[in-house]
Amino acid sequence: MRAPAGDTAPRGACYSLAAMSLPEIEIPCPDDWHLHLRDADMLGAVLADTAAAFARAIVMPNLKPPVTTAAMAVAYRERIRAALPTASAFEPLMTCYLTDNTDPGDLAAGARDGVFTAAKLYPAGATTNSDAGVTDVARLDPVLAAMSAAGLPLLVHGEVVDDTVDIFDREAVFIERVLEPLRRRHPGLRVVLEHVTTAEAVAYVRGADPARLAATITPHHLVINRNALFAGGIRPHVYCLPVAKRERHRLALVEAACSGDVHFFLGTDSAPHTVAAKENACGCAGIYNSVTALATYLAVFEAAGALGHFEAFACRNGPAFYGLPVNARRVRFGRGAAWQPPAQRATGAGPVQVFAPPLELCWQQVAG
Ligand code: DOR
Ligand code: ZN
Repeated sequence: MRAPAGDTAPRGACYSLAAMSLPEIEIPCPDDWHLHLRDADMLGAVLADTAAAFARAIVMPNLKPPVTTAAMAVAYRERIRAALPTASAFEPLMTCYLTDNTDPGDLAAGARDGVFTAAKLYPAGATTNSDAGVTDVARLDPVLAAMSAAGLPLLVHGEVVDDTVDIFDREAVFIERVLEPLRRRHPGLRVVLEHVTTAEAVAYVRGADPARLAATITPHHLVINRNALFAGGIRPHVYCLPVAKRERHRLALVEAACSGDVHFFLGTDSAPHTVAAKENACGCAGIYNSVTALATYLAVFEAAGALGHFEAFACRNGPAFYGLPVNARRVRFGRGAAWQPPAQRATGAGPVQVFAPPLELCWQQVAG
């Protein structure tokens, strides 16, 4: 996380708050278990923001064209590594984009060779760059069986694509119509329901064996409800999918994240689009929050009186689910004067709006 400053500030700058004897916490370096890094002109700038804040990230495969094979994931991982700031130890964890034609053998080999950490199910048409996604989940059964056998987690964009279902109900309906039957067919499969947005999803995940079902929670869904989309006019920069829901759902997400429950962990779903693509008659879904994510989460945990559970959510529950070690490197966050994030991040593809949460950002990394 960077300091309050404009777009040209050095990344990863640290500020000493020790002299002020303000609250501090020291934890292992957090990971981001759901991230969009894009490619080419966009990649370098957004990767630097993530690498300044997180040790590892699960990298989403919804590029154009999507990352559908182990060879494509190896090539994408190389492009990410080549775009990292000098001396960064950031580790990208790669995922496979599932399609109607995914080869179970390639997926299993990718898992065995340490290329794939997980595979992602986008129902075709559910969200950004999901056109090549799965049209009929039942046809994915041989792939899911191979994943189950290989111990490769399935990451799910949990929304039905049926336009007769209200957009605010698509997550809850997905759980009932698609996810529960899928999990019954594959009881050994380990599943992450990504970016949960509803009280129904929280309850569903809580009721499952945490070794078999977990969920990520974004910073934006913890701090905005659906009113934010229409505050004084239409607000494209807070439009994402799944769309933010009613306040009671936001409160359920805050309770889940702040409980320390092992089912829930940090996943920003930071999803950069250029300002031009967002401020558009058909604006893209996605919120770019890598710059403000940790400060936003910390503000939410602090307001809930739950800073003691932040380490579980940000550093321990994710590695426990994925069977990975907790990061050895430790970082300290201090609470100081409110800081202003840059309004935009310049990228080679054009400027990207930085998510400005509707609260004061007082936490920042002070060491590590
Ligand atoms: O809002 C979103 N943006 N939701 C997604 O599922 C995809 C993401 C993106 O890639 O832009
Ligand atoms: Zn996403």
